[in-house]
Amino acid sequence: MKIAILPGDGIGPEITKQAVDVLKALNVATELVEAPIGGAGYEKFGDPLPDSTLDLAIKSDAILLGAVGDWKFDALPRDKRPEQGLLRIRKGLNLFANLRPAILYPELVGASSLKSEIVSNLDIMIVRELTGDIYFGQPRGIHTNENGEREGINTMRYSESEIKRIAHVAFHIAMKRSKKLCSIDKANVLETTELWRQIMIDLSKEYPEVELTHMYVDNAAMQLIKNPKQFDVLVTGNIFGDILSDEASMLTGSIGMLPSASLDSNNKGMYEPSHGSAPDIAGKNIANPLATILSLAMMFRYTFNDEKNAKKIEAAVKKALSRGFRTADIYSAGDKKVSCSEMGEAVIASLN
Ligand code: IPM
Ligand code: MG
Repeated sequence: MKIAILPGDGIGPEITKQAVDVLKALNVATELVEAPIGGAGYEKFGDPLPDSTLDLAIKSDAILLGAVGDWKFDALPRDKRPEQGLLRIRKGLNLFANLRPAILYPELVGASSLKSEIVSNLDIMIVRELTGDIYFGQPRGIHTNENGEREGINTMRYSESEIKRIAHVAFHIAMKRSKKLCSIDKANVLETTELWRQIMIDLSKEYPEVELTHMYVDNAAMQLIKNPKQFDVLVTGNIFGDILSDEASMLTGSIGMLPSASLDSNNKGMYEPSHGSAPDIAGKNIANPLATILSLAMMFRYTFNDEKNAKKIEAAVKKALSRGFRTADIYSAGDKKVSCSEMGEAVIASLN
């Protein structure tokens, strides 16, 4: 198995290193090849997604990505900014299905901003469409309009086939879990999501065992805080999924705990933490590497079909937490405060 390692920017390199060390400790035969993306790609090759990096990603079985972005690149033209590297690799590899599980480890109940009875045992799966919607819709840009003033334009659009393929992914996941699927839209206002809802309803006939419900995104944002355990699998478009998954991450104590998988139709995938590059703490060795390590577990589960190693990594994370190890973002008085690399070592020490 060939794995492309794309550390990226900010805390990306330090968290990726911990996941790579866990991977090496598993003694699975893999070929690891590293390449720059985001600001690192721009600095080395003048492009946030250098051709050589895209080429490597295409030729690999899976990709492990850290994070992209740094304020120092904010003044660059949009097509040179780090985020474009991420969006282009998602689009270029057709990674349309983004799975973001929000799981609250019992050890972290106190780290959640909500009362323990609201969040204890939380385990939800957000299925976010990742290659369509307002993120990619044309026309877009900043123009001067007929009144001579500047106007910003983005276009929310989804084709039927794009909606269908993410719907199938979500129904399949729901079948493997509690058979409850909640589709999030804004069908009361946006036609794009009215179509989304119609297609969800049509396809639900192919999955009679799954109980499909619908919720407007504003209400979903509220319900996630009010009573998150009413949800099991959520499916939604790119922009709503971006926002709701950040919200859901806080239920689990820290955004530093949320892994993700971005899959194509053959389960080739890119695995990355759901959080960003946190340039303010980059290089300080204090970031939480667990979301990246848990993303590695997802790589074993979804791309390598190796549930055993996926579970092994997840169990090691759990064990490191139950031994009291905490990075700063999940620390509370009485815990053992550790650095990013010490957390990585604690997970490796807990593998067996
Ligand atoms: C995410 C991030 C990205 C997104 C950014 C960095 C482009 O927020 O993966 O959720 O908006 O998708
Ligand atoms: Mg986001």
